[in-house]
Amino acid sequence: MTLQGEIPRRGSSLSNLGIVKNGALLVRDGRIVAVGTRAQVEARKDARAVEKLHVGGRVVLPGFVDSHTHLIHAASRADEYELKIQGASYEEIARQGGGILNSVTKLRAANADALKARARAALEEFASFGTTTIEAKSGYGLDVASELKILRLQRELKSEQPVEIVSTFLGAHVVPSEFRGKVNGTERYISLLLDRMLPDVVSKKLAEFCDVFCDRGAFTLEQSRRILRAALQLGLGVRLHAEQLSRSGATRLGVEFRAASCDHLEQVNATDIGALAKSQTVATLLPGCNFHLGSKNYAPARALIDAGAVVALATDYNPGTSPTVSTPMILSLACSQLRMSPAEAIAAATINGAYALRRERRIGSLETGKQADLAVFEVEDYREIPYYFGMQRCWMTMKNGEVVWMKD
Ligand code: NIG
Ligand code: FE
Repeated sequence: MTLQGEIPRRGSSLSNLGIVKNGALLVRDGRIVAVGTRAQVEARKDARAVEKLHVGGRVVLPGFVDSHTHLIHAASRADEYELKIQGASYEEIARQGGGILNSVTKLRAANADALKARARAALEEFASFGTTTIEAKSGYGLDVASELKILRLQRELKSEQPVEIVSTFLGAHVVPSEFRGKVNGTERYISLLLDRMLPDVVSKKLAEFCDVFCDRGAFTLEQSRRILRAALQLGLGVRLHAEQLSRSGATRLGVEFRAASCDHLEQVNATDIGALAKSQTVATLLPGCNFHLGSKNYAPARALIDAGAVVALATDYNPGTSPTVSTPMILSLACSQLRMSPAEAIAAATINGAYALRRERRIGSLETGKQADLAVFEVEDYREIPYYFGMQRCWMTMKNGEVVWMKD
C-alpha cells in the first residue's frame, strides 16, 4: 500500500490506499528512489547490484505516524484503572488529586535516567507495532525545570534511537497543585507559562508545537486563546486537546488559529464539524481513550469524514486514558467503534497523521523522494491488520532504510 494520492485525504479519497500488487521499493541512503511493481523496479539499471530484502506474501505500508502521544511519564496508573472499573469517572478521580496531577507528582520525583529508560522501552514497542514517527508532548512536569527535563529527554531520545520524535510543549495540561486554591493561582501559573516556560522552550528549540488541554477542569477557552496566541507569536505551531470531556469551543479556536490539529473531539457539534471540514486543521481521533475509560461516547468519525474534514487516528499513549502504543489496536477500534473502513483507518494513521505533524512531504506514504519508513505485516489482505485485534502481526519495521524491528 503506497498511500500515494491526494494530500491530505478527505472524504472518499481517504479510502485510496494506492495498492500495488507484487510491488517493490528501491531504497538508497534512507530514501525511496523507486516504487512500483517488482518488474518495473527490477528493470531499472540502478536496481541491478542491490541488496534484496524479500518480504513476499506480506503487506507493506508506510510506517504509522502516531501524531498524539504523552511519551514521557514515570509510571502507570493501574490503581485508578481499578477505581474506574468500579464506577469512578475520569474527572472524579482527577478532582481527588489523581489523574494528571498523580502523574505530575510521580514525574517530578523520578530521575531522568529512569524516565528515559521507560520511554526508550516504549519506543521499541512502538516500532514493534509498525510505528516509525511519533509526536510526544510534555505536560507531566508543569514547572519550568520538569517541563524542560521532559523535552530535553525527548531530544536525546530522538538522536539515540530510530523512532522519529516530534516534540510538543504541553505546559497547559492542567494547573499544578502548588497553584491551586491560591489567590489568582491559575493566573499566576499562566504567567509562569507565558513568561518563563514558553520563551525557554522556544529559545532552546525544544518543541515545534504548543498544545493546550482546553476543557472542564483544565484551561478555559479564553486562557487557551492567550496561551496559543503567545505560542504562535513565538513561532510554534499549535494543536489542541479539544472537546474531550465537554464542548468548550476549542475546535473553533483551533480552526481560527490554523492549528495543525484538534484532537479527541468526542463532544463536537455540527458547527465544529463544518468548521473543521473547511479548514486545514486535522481532526485527530483517539478511540483508545474511550475504550480504556469504558465510555461509549466515541467521536463522530463518519460525520467528520462525510463533511470533508481531514481525519487522523492516533494512540494518545498516556497513563491515564490510553495506555497503549499499538496503532494496529487503534485501527481495530476505529473500524468497530468509529465505523471507519480498514482503508480509511490506515490512511488516517499514515498520510493524514503525517499531515497532522506537517511532515507530509517527508513521511506518511511510499513515494519517490520520501523517507524509507515502512511497516511489513504478516497478513494476506490489508483488512486483516485491524481485523486481528490486539494481535501482533507486524513482521518488520524499517526507518530511513534501516530495519529497526523484526519478528523473530
Ligand atoms: O489526551 N486529556 C488530557 N490529556 C490526556 C490524558 C492525560 C492523563 O490522564 O494523564 C489525554 O486524554
Ligand atoms: Fe492526549
